[in-house]
Amino acid sequence: MTKLLVVATGNPGKLKEMQAYLADLGFELRLKPDELDVEETGTTFIENACLKAAEVAKATNQWAIADDSGLAVDALGGAPGVYSARYGQSDAERISRLLRELGEETNRQAEFVCAVAVARPDGSIALCLEGVCRGEILHNSRGSGGFGYDPIFYVPQQQLTFAEMTPQLKRQFSHRGKAFEALIPQLSILDLGF
Ligand code: IMP
Repeated sequence: MTKLLVVATGNPGKLKEMQAYLADLGFELRLKPDELDVEETGTTFIENACLKAAEVAKATNQWAIADDSGLAVDALGGAPGVYSARYGQSDAERISRLLRELGEETNRQAEFVCAVAVARPDGSIALCLEGVCRGEILHNSRGSGGFGYDPIFYVPQQQLTFAEMTPQLKRQFSHRGKAFEALIPQLSILDLGF
């Protein structure tokens, strides 16, 4: 029998990456119902990921997986952080607000953080972990791949922004790729009760 996992996200960019990372593991991934919108009231990525996974699991009575992620810029005291999605109405607005707030600041250090949580049908948390990728914020966008803040997030080791990387390379270096790399072995041995 296929193992069903409800994905607690409405973000198509995240969903695409999660689907790619969970492919070949034998799960049937189902998107959460549109009308099920969980308010992100937590103050950390971990809290919000657990909150979303738990609420969606309880509402659907199925196992659920959630990702809460965002960009934390050192010179902005970690902003936008958990407010990354709420920094503007569109990716373009969010990027221009961030670049405006950072201005000519010379410290461009930042990190992307991704917390992933898996909840049982009763809403209890089975797994929860985090992946981090450090990088720098450019003055202008570069590249057309990925989503969100990818065009301004530069990884010096590769001399590429996330938006210039292939999906495979982004997986290797990104916060989400690292979180899923740690999650997958644990998910595979978890007794999902099927
Ligand atoms: P949330 O996790 O739904 O609260 O929102 C995450 C926010 O961070 C969204 O604005 C995303 O565009 C952004 N974000 C998360 N992961 C990535 C990524 O891998 N690349 C670019 N932006 C991301």
